[in-house]
Amino acid sequence: MATIAPRAAGRGRIKSLDEILATAEKKSLKRSLGAFQLTLLGIGAVIGTGIFVLTATAAQKAGPGMMVSFIVAGSVCAVAALCYSELASMVPVAGSAYTYSYAVMGEIVAWLVGWALILEYALGASAVAVGWSGHIVPLLDSLGIHLPHALTVGPKIEWGFLQGGEIGGFFNLPAILIVAFVTTLLVIGTKESATFNAVLVLIKVAALTLFVAVTLPMVSGHMQNFHPFAPRGWGSPLSSSGTGVLGAAASIFFAYVGFDAVSTAAEETKNPQRNVPIGLIGSLLICTVFYLLVAGGAIGAYGAQPLMDPATGHFLKEGSPELYAASACHAANAPLVCSKEALAYVMRQVSTPMLGYLIGLAATLALPSVVLLMMYGQTRIFFVMARDGLLPERLSTVHPRFRTPWIVTIVTGIFVAIAAAFLPVGTLADYSNAGTLFAFAAVSVGVMVLRFTDPRRPRPFRTPVLFVVAPLSIAGCLLLFFSLGIESKELFAAWTIIGLLIYFLYSRSRSHVGRGITEVPELASEAPGSIGIAPMPGAPVPPQDIGDSD
Ligand code: ALA
Repeated sequence: MATIAPRAAGRGRIKSLDEILATAEKKSLKRSLGAFQLTLLGIGAVIGTGIFVLTATAAQKAGPGMMVSFIVAGSVCAVAALCYSELASMVPVAGSAYTYSYAVMGEIVAWLVGWALILEYALGASAVAVGWSGHIVPLLDSLGIHLPHALTVGPKIEWGFLQGGEIGGFFNLPAILIVAFVTTLLVIGTKESATFNAVLVLIKVAALTLFVAVTLPMVSGHMQNFHPFAPRGWGSPLSSSGTGVLGAAASIFFAYVGFDAVSTAAEETKNPQRNVPIGLIGSLLICTVFYLLVAGGAIGAYGAQPLMDPATGHFLKEGSPELYAASACHAANAPLVCSKEALAYVMRQVSTPMLGYLIGLAATLALPSVVLLMMYGQTRIFFVMARDGLLPERLSTVHPRFRTPWIVTIVTGIFVAIAAAFLPVGTLADYSNAGTLFAFAAVSVGVMVLRFTDPRRPRPFRTPVLFVVAPLSIAGCLLLFFSLGIESKELFAAWTIIGLLIYFLYSRSRSHVGRGITEVPELASEAPGSIGIAPMPGAPVPPQDIGDSD
């Protein structure tokens, strides 16, 4: 990495867009992705634990009203995606919201966004790993391999904002194992190829289609399952319980997270101005339609009413030890809200066990790739932050043989595994959502700020009616953030305070921008790669990959 002589830091600690773009141009990954592949990439990153598992959480929070929750969460994502697209097309580099914020709003905001993205990606990966565990355990059971219950769930923790697993749990061994497996793949540099992603998308879409095809015809005969529609009310951003339709929307938002993988792939996209927005909105739209059909099918065919504690007459907390201990959850026809593999469970109940296990198998095969994409995103954010001097630069060390940022990958793996070992899926998803919503809100502010501070810079994609869409996105993110349960908001506050302490005690004095150091990667590919096709940082770039092949 060459270091150019220190220069004046300019107006505040803002990373110059021109420098970021110069790095991107130098890197110049081959532009090979079209709108179709981008949409597949989006669907591949988006469909996962949210729909396969958290449908149970949403049902316990909102009952059949969760259908509205899916629409609310999808709409917030759609407006945020439109804002993302403008920045992604202008600053088509990896690092996503962190990089955009650095260029537009300066270092401290970028730091806070990067810090929040750790919640999004790392805890998101943990949530998906726990979702995977919820599928592999019954599959193994069906094969006669019974893991001790204590090794499949985390312990019960109720310490401030941390809300742990089940009574009698020790740690979630399958979740740890899948994180270890994915970490190993990332260290040795295995990446998901576009073809592999397409196969996994096919498996997920086939599983959801099968679910819809079996359950939807049953709906008309069971319209009573939709009543009461919103047994726990509509929810409120002012309540601390995080329940009702809005509370469920805040949780089920997780089912849409990941579409930013598309914006991060902008560098590898042919005609990004057209294809990135198509990929983002297209994948969101397809997922929303699927989610609504799946939720409607599950409610109609089996029912999705929340469970009450018969002794107190109060609704039980979603995913809590008390809920799983309730006698209703041990009956032969236990409600959907008791299941850790909601779709596979409903399928087993309303059709044949075989079809249920097929859905479970599809999730078991497909979820590790979501873990991989999220951990990959996390390592790239850490990598860029370390390269900017905000985190120890040793973290960005590239492995001499595998050419991967192995230290940062292992650190990420340890963090993801610890969270997955001890916390339940719904808690992890809510914590992840808190970070994501903050990052989305920041991007939405950033895109408006840039219209004022840099109005003449070419905008390959302009967000339509930005000054309506961006405020809607910010309002939607805030609405969902405050609709989360109190412990998620407390965790986010604690996480942010820790982040600010680290920034002021460590990062601020070491920041390259603050010290006036501009770095230019010597190797064309030294900047972090993006999902799918890019060479790993430090890897030599084949001559044919240099330059825009459009
Ligand atoms: N949206 C992804 C999932 O639901 C993160 O697993």
